[in-house]
Amino acid sequence: PTPVILDVDPGLDDAVAIMLACGAQELDVRAVTTVAGNVSLEKTTANALKVLSFLGRGDVPVGAGAEGPLRGPLVAAEDVHGADGLGGIPLPEPTFGPDGRGAVGLMADALREAAEPVTLVALAPLTNVAILLREHPELKARVARIVLMGGSMGPGNVTPHAEFNVHADPEAAREVFESGLPITMVGLDATRESGVAPEEAARMLSLGRMGELAARLVGAVVKGGGPSGLRTPPVHDAVAVACVIEPGMVRTRRMRVDVEQEGEARGRTVCGPRGVEGRASNADVGVGLDRGAFFRVLFRALARLAG
Ligand code: BDR
Ligand code: CA
Repeated sequence: PTPVILDVDPGLDDAVAIMLACGAQELDVRAVTTVAGNVSLEKTTANALKVLSFLGRGDVPVGAGAEGPLRGPLVAAEDVHGADGLGGIPLPEPTFGPDGRGAVGLMADALREAAEPVTLVALAPLTNVAILLREHPELKARVARIVLMGGSMGPGNVTPHAEFNVHADPEAAREVFESGLPITMVGLDATRESGVAPEEAARMLSLGRMGELAARLVGAVVKGGGPSGLRTPPVHDAVAVACVIEPGMVRTRRMRVDVEQEGEARGRTVCGPRGVEGRASNADVGVGLDRGAFFRVLFRALARLAG
Protein backbone atom coordinates (compact mmCIF):
# COMPACT_ATOMS: atom_id res chain seq x y z
CA PRO A 1 0.00 0.00 0.00
CA THR A 2 0.97 3.64 -0.58
CA PRO A 3 2.12 5.32 2.65
CA VAL A 4 0.24 8.56 3.31
CA ILE A 5 0.08 11.32 5.90
CA LEU A 6 -3.26 13.12 6.11
CA ASP A 7 -3.27 16.78 7.16
CA VAL A 8 -6.85 17.70 8.09
CA ASP A 9 -9.25 20.18 9.74
CA PRO A 10 -12.32 18.00 10.40
CA GLY A 11 -14.67 19.20 9.10
CA LEU A 12 -17.45 17.03 7.67
CA ASP A 13 -15.74 16.16 4.38
CA ASP A 14 -12.40 15.70 6.17
CA ALA A 15 -14.10 13.10 8.36
CA VAL A 16 -15.37 11.25 5.27
CA ALA A 17 -11.87 11.50 3.78
CA ILE A 18 -10.34 9.93 6.91
CA MET A 19 -12.89 7.11 6.67
CA LEU A 20 -12.05 6.57 3.01
CA ALA A 21 -8.30 6.50 3.67
CA CYS A 22 -8.63 4.07 6.58
CA GLY A 23 -10.93 1.77 4.63
CA ALA A 24 -8.88 1.64 1.45
CA GLN A 25 -6.60 -1.36 1.21
CA GLU A 26 -4.40 0.59 -1.23
CA LEU A 27 -3.35 3.11 1.46
CA ASP A 28 -1.27 2.89 4.61
CA VAL A 29 -2.18 5.84 6.88
CA ARG A 30 1.04 6.60 8.80
CA ALA A 31 -0.13 9.73 10.62
CA VAL A 32 -2.94 12.26 10.81
CA THR A 33 -2.07 15.88 11.56
CA THR A 34 -4.51 18.64 12.40
CA VAL A 35 -4.62 22.36 11.77
CA ALA A 36 -7.05 25.15 12.52
CA GLY A 37 -9.37 25.70 9.57
CA ASN A 38 -13.04 24.83 9.44
CA VAL A 39 -13.02 25.21 13.24
CA SER A 40 -10.35 25.83 15.91
CA LEU A 41 -7.35 23.56 16.35
CA GLU A 42 -8.73 22.22 19.59
CA LYS A 43 -11.89 21.10 17.82
CA THR A 44 -10.24 19.74 14.65
CA THR A 45 -7.89 17.68 16.84
CA ALA A 46 -10.73 16.35 19.02
CA ASN A 47 -12.70 15.50 15.87
CA ALA A 48 -9.80 13.63 14.24
CA LEU A 49 -9.32 11.62 17.45
CA LYS A 50 -13.03 10.85 17.65
CA VAL A 51 -13.32 9.71 14.05
CA LEU A 52 -10.22 7.49 14.26
CA SER A 53 -11.43 6.06 17.58
CA PHE A 54 -14.82 5.24 16.04
CA LEU A 55 -12.97 3.42 13.25
CA GLY A 56 -10.94 1.47 15.81
CA ARG A 57 -7.75 3.10 14.56
CA GLY A 58 -6.13 4.22 17.79
CA ASP A 59 -2.87 3.00 16.22
CA VAL A 60 -2.74 6.05 13.92
CA PRO A 61 -0.91 8.88 15.72
CA VAL A 62 -2.59 12.30 15.63
CA GLY A 63 -0.40 15.40 15.89
CA ALA A 64 -1.87 18.83 16.56
CA GLY A 65 -0.38 21.66 14.50
CA ALA A 66 -0.92 25.34 13.80
CA GLU A 67 -3.60 27.31 15.63
CA GLY A 68 -3.96 29.75 12.79
CA PRO A 69 -2.48 30.86 9.46
CA LEU A 70 1.10 32.06 9.00
CA ARG A 71 -0.20 35.63 9.01
CA GLY A 72 -3.43 37.19 10.23
CA PRO A 73 -6.43 35.76 12.04
CA LEU A 74 -8.14 32.43 11.49
CA VAL A 75 -11.13 32.52 9.16
CA ALA A 76 -13.19 29.47 10.06
CA ALA A 77 -16.13 27.82 8.26
CA GLU A 78 -18.56 27.06 11.06
CA ASP A 79 -21.38 28.14 8.79
CA VAL A 80 -20.72 25.03 6.69
CA HIS A 81 -19.49 22.46 9.23
CA GLY A 82 -21.37 23.52 12.38
CA ALA A 83 -19.93 25.02 15.57
CA ASP A 84 -18.28 21.72 16.56
CA GLY A 85 -16.98 21.00 13.02
CA LEU A 86 -18.96 17.77 12.70
CA GLY A 87 -22.43 19.18 12.16
CA GLY A 88 -23.47 18.32 15.71
CA ILE A 89 -23.27 14.57 14.99
CA PRO A 90 -22.50 12.93 18.32
CA LEU A 91 -19.53 10.56 18.37
CA PRO A 92 -18.19 8.72 21.45
CA GLU A 93 -15.29 10.31 23.29
CA PRO A 94 -11.90 9.37 21.80
CA THR A 95 -10.08 6.31 23.10
CA PHE A 96 -6.66 7.96 22.78
CA GLY A 97 -5.01 11.37 22.94
CA PRO A 98 -2.84 13.51 20.68
CA ASP A 99 0.80 12.62 20.03
CA GLY A 100 3.28 14.71 22.06
CA ARG A 101 5.41 15.49 19.00
CA GLY A 102 2.77 17.75 17.46
CA ALA A 103 1.98 17.92 13.75
CA VAL A 104 5.36 18.93 12.36
CA GLY A 105 7.38 16.63 14.64
CA LEU A 106 5.09 13.74 13.82
CA MET A 107 5.18 14.38 10.07
CA ALA A 108 8.99 14.63 10.19
CA ASP A 109 9.34 11.34 12.06
CA ALA A 110 6.81 9.59 9.81
CA LEU A 111 8.76 10.75 6.74
CA ARG A 112 12.09 9.59 8.21
CA GLU A 113 10.76 6.24 9.37
CA ALA A 114 8.98 5.15 6.20
CA ALA A 115 10.83 2.73 3.95
CA GLU A 116 9.74 4.66 0.87
CA PRO A 117 8.78 8.30 0.17
CA VAL A 118 5.40 9.23 1.61
CA THR A 119 2.48 11.00 -0.10
CA LEU A 120 1.28 14.06 1.82
CA VAL A 121 -2.47 14.44 1.45
CA ALA A 122 -3.36 17.97 2.54
CA LEU A 123 -7.06 18.61 3.08
CA ALA A 124 -6.95 21.89 4.98
CA PRO A 125 -5.18 25.27 5.07
CA LEU A 126 -1.55 24.49 4.19
CA THR A 127 0.01 26.00 7.33
CA ASN A 128 1.42 22.76 8.77
CA VAL A 129 2.84 21.66 5.43
CA ALA A 130 4.53 25.04 4.86
CA ILE A 131 6.09 24.95 8.35
CA LEU A 132 7.30 21.38 7.78
CA LEU A 133 9.01 22.44 4.54
CA ARG A 134 10.55 25.51 6.20
CA GLU A 135 11.86 23.61 9.21
CA HIS A 136 12.92 20.39 7.49
CA PRO A 137 13.94 21.14 3.89
CA GLU A 138 16.10 18.01 3.99
CA LEU A 139 12.94 15.90 4.27
CA LYS A 140 11.62 17.01 0.88
CA ALA A 141 13.38 14.00 -0.60
CA ARG A 142 11.19 11.80 1.62
CA VAL A 143 7.97 13.29 0.18
CA ALA A 144 6.73 11.35 -2.85
CA ARG A 145 4.28 14.13 -3.74
CA ILE A 146 1.71 16.45 -2.27
CA VAL A 147 -1.92 15.89 -3.20
CA LEU A 148 -3.90 18.83 -1.92
CA MET A 149 -7.56 19.73 -1.84
CA GLY A 150 -7.60 23.43 -2.52
CA GLY A 151 -7.86 26.17 -5.08
CA SER A 152 -9.98 26.69 -8.14
CA MET A 153 -9.38 27.63 -11.76
CA GLY A 154 -12.68 29.45 -11.76
CA PRO A 155 -14.87 30.89 -9.02
CA GLY A 156 -14.20 30.29 -5.35
CA ASN A 157 -16.43 29.11 -2.54
CA VAL A 158 -15.62 31.62 0.20
CA THR A 159 -15.14 34.67 -1.97
CA PRO A 160 -15.89 35.04 -5.67
CA HIS A 161 -12.15 34.44 -6.20
CA ALA A 162 -10.97 31.99 -3.59
CA GLU A 163 -11.46 28.47 -2.34
CA PHE A 164 -11.49 28.03 1.45
CA ASN A 165 -8.23 26.14 2.12
CA VAL A 166 -6.11 28.51 0.03
CA HIS A 167 -7.98 31.59 1.20
CA ALA A 168 -7.44 30.61 4.85
CA ASP A 169 -3.63 30.71 4.43
CA PRO A 170 -2.47 32.07 1.08
CA GLU A 171 1.13 32.53 2.28
CA ALA A 172 1.39 28.86 3.19
CA ALA A 173 -0.21 27.86 -0.11
CA ARG A 174 2.30 29.94 -2.04
CA GLU A 175 5.22 28.33 -0.23
CA VAL A 176 3.87 24.88 -0.98
CA PHE A 177 3.30 25.62 -4.68
CA GLU A 178 6.83 27.07 -4.89
CA SER A 179 8.40 24.13 -3.04
CA GLY A 180 9.47 22.32 -6.19
CA LEU A 181 7.77 19.14 -4.97
CA PRO A 182 5.39 17.29 -7.30
CA ILE A 183 1.93 18.69 -6.58
CA THR A 184 -1.52 17.57 -7.59
CA MET A 185 -4.04 20.34 -6.97
CA VAL A 186 -7.47 18.81 -6.49
CA GLY A 187 -9.51 21.99 -6.49
CA LEU A 188 -13.14 22.91 -6.88
CA ASP A 189 -13.09 22.21 -10.62
CA ALA A 190 -12.83 18.51 -9.76
CA THR A 191 -14.39 18.31 -6.29
CA ARG A 192 -17.58 20.20 -7.17
CA GLU A 193 -18.51 17.16 -9.23
CA SER A 194 -18.53 14.95 -6.11
CA GLY A 195 -22.01 16.00 -5.00
CA VAL A 196 -23.71 13.14 -3.18
CA ALA A 197 -27.12 12.59 -4.80
CA PRO A 198 -29.97 10.92 -2.88
CA GLU A 199 -29.23 7.58 -4.61
CA GLU A 200 -25.62 7.67 -3.44
CA ALA A 201 -26.63 8.64 0.09
CA ALA A 202 -29.05 5.69 0.12
CA ARG A 203 -26.27 3.37 -1.03
CA MET A 204 -24.07 4.61 1.84
CA LEU A 205 -26.84 3.94 4.32
CA SER A 206 -26.95 0.34 3.11
CA LEU A 207 -23.25 -0.21 3.93
CA GLY A 208 -23.52 -0.78 7.69
CA ARG A 209 -22.64 1.53 10.55
CA MET A 210 -19.65 3.10 8.81
CA GLY A 211 -21.71 3.88 5.73
CA GLU A 212 -24.40 5.30 7.99
CA LEU A 213 -21.91 7.64 9.65
CA ALA A 214 -20.61 8.76 6.26
CA ALA A 215 -24.13 9.46 5.05
CA ARG A 216 -24.86 11.51 8.17
CA LEU A 217 -21.63 13.49 7.74
CA VAL A 218 -22.51 14.24 4.14
CA GLY A 219 -26.05 15.25 5.02
CA ALA A 220 -25.03 17.49 7.92
CA VAL A 221 -23.60 20.29 5.80
CA VAL A 222 -25.09 23.47 7.16
CA LYS A 223 -25.05 26.99 5.90
CA GLY A 224 -26.08 29.99 7.95
CA GLY A 225 -27.06 27.80 10.89
CA GLY A 226 -29.65 25.60 9.23
CA PRO A 227 -29.86 22.76 6.75
CA SER A 228 -28.22 23.99 3.60
CA GLY A 229 -30.88 22.69 1.33
CA LEU A 230 -28.01 21.50 -0.84
CA ARG A 231 -29.52 18.51 -2.57
CA THR A 232 -26.12 17.12 -3.47
CA PRO A 233 -23.44 18.23 -1.00
CA PRO A 234 -19.92 17.67 -2.35
CA VAL A 235 -17.31 15.78 -0.32
CA HIS A 236 -14.31 17.80 -1.50
CA ASP A 237 -11.62 16.25 0.71
CA ALA A 238 -12.60 12.67 -0.06
CA VAL A 239 -11.89 13.32 -3.75
CA ALA A 240 -8.24 14.10 -3.01
CA VAL A 241 -7.85 10.84 -1.09
CA ALA A 242 -9.66 8.87 -3.78
CA CYS A 243 -7.37 10.16 -6.49
CA VAL A 244 -4.34 8.86 -4.59
CA ILE A 245 -6.01 5.45 -4.75
CA GLU A 246 -6.98 5.73 -8.42
CA PRO A 247 -5.15 8.65 -10.06
CA GLY A 248 -7.07 8.40 -13.33
CA MET A 249 -10.36 9.47 -11.77
CA VAL A 250 -9.29 13.13 -11.65
CA ARG A 251 -8.39 14.49 -15.08
CA THR A 252 -5.43 16.83 -14.72
CA ARG A 253 -3.64 19.45 -16.75
CA ARG A 254 -0.03 20.52 -16.22
CA MET A 255 -0.12 24.19 -15.22
CA ARG A 256 1.56 27.10 -13.51
CA VAL A 257 -0.26 28.03 -10.28
CA ASP A 258 0.35 31.32 -8.48
CA VAL A 259 -1.46 32.36 -5.34
CA GLU A 260 -2.82 35.92 -5.01
CA GLN A 261 -1.66 37.39 -1.72
CA GLU A 262 -3.37 40.78 -1.56
CA GLY A 263 -6.62 42.59 -2.13
CA GLU A 264 -10.03 41.20 -2.86
CA ALA A 265 -8.60 38.29 -4.85
CA ARG A 266 -6.44 37.16 -1.87
CA GLY A 267 -6.29 33.37 -1.94
CA ARG A 268 -7.10 33.04 -5.62
CA THR A 269 -5.15 30.33 -7.43
CA VAL A 270 -4.17 31.82 -10.77
CA CYS A 271 -3.79 28.83 -13.07
CA GLY A 272 -2.08 29.45 -16.38
CA PRO A 273 -0.65 27.25 -19.07
CA ARG A 274 3.03 26.51 -18.62
CA GLY A 275 5.48 28.54 -20.61
CA VAL A 276 3.56 31.82 -20.42
CA GLU A 277 6.10 34.54 -19.62
CA GLY A 278 8.68 31.76 -19.58
CA ARG A 279 7.42 30.43 -16.28
CA ALA A 280 7.67 26.73 -15.53
CA SER A 281 4.70 24.63 -14.52
CA ASN A 282 4.46 23.62 -10.86
CA ALA A 283 1.33 21.49 -10.51
CA ASP A 284 -1.01 18.99 -12.08
CA VAL A 285 -4.35 20.72 -11.75
CA GLY A 286 -7.53 18.67 -11.51
CA VAL A 287 -10.00 19.78 -14.14
CA GLY A 288 -12.70 17.15 -13.84
CA LEU A 289 -13.84 14.06 -11.96
CA ASP A 290 -15.03 10.63 -13.02
CA ARG A 291 -17.95 10.46 -10.58
CA GLY A 292 -18.60 6.78 -11.16
CA ALA A 293 -15.01 5.86 -10.29
CA PHE A 294 -15.05 8.13 -7.23
CA PHE A 295 -18.15 6.58 -5.73
CA ARG A 296 -16.98 3.04 -6.50
CA VAL A 297 -13.78 3.69 -4.52
CA LEU A 298 -15.68 5.38 -1.67
CA PHE A 299 -18.32 2.66 -1.34
CA ARG A 300 -15.68 -0.09 -1.47
CA ALA A 301 -13.74 1.54 1.39
CA LEU A 302 -16.84 2.10 3.52
CA ALA A 303 -17.94 -1.50 3.04
CA ARG A 304 -14.46 -2.73 3.99
CA LEU A 305 -14.47 -0.58 7.16
CA ALA A 306 -17.74 -2.09 8.26
CA GLY A 307 -16.60 -5.65 7.61
C1 BDR B 1 -12.46 22.75 1.62
O1 BDR B 1 -12.80 23.71 2.63
C2 BDR B 1 -13.20 23.05 3.79
O2 BDR B 1 -14.32 23.68 4.34
C3 BDR B 1 -13.46 21.63 3.44
O3 BDR B 1 -13.17 20.77 4.52
C4 BDR B 1 -12.52 21.39 2.27
O4 BDR B 1 -11.24 21.02 2.74
C5 BDR B 1 -13.40 22.94 0.44
O5 BDR B 1 -13.23 24.21 -0.11
CA1 CA C 1 -10.88 20.21 4.98
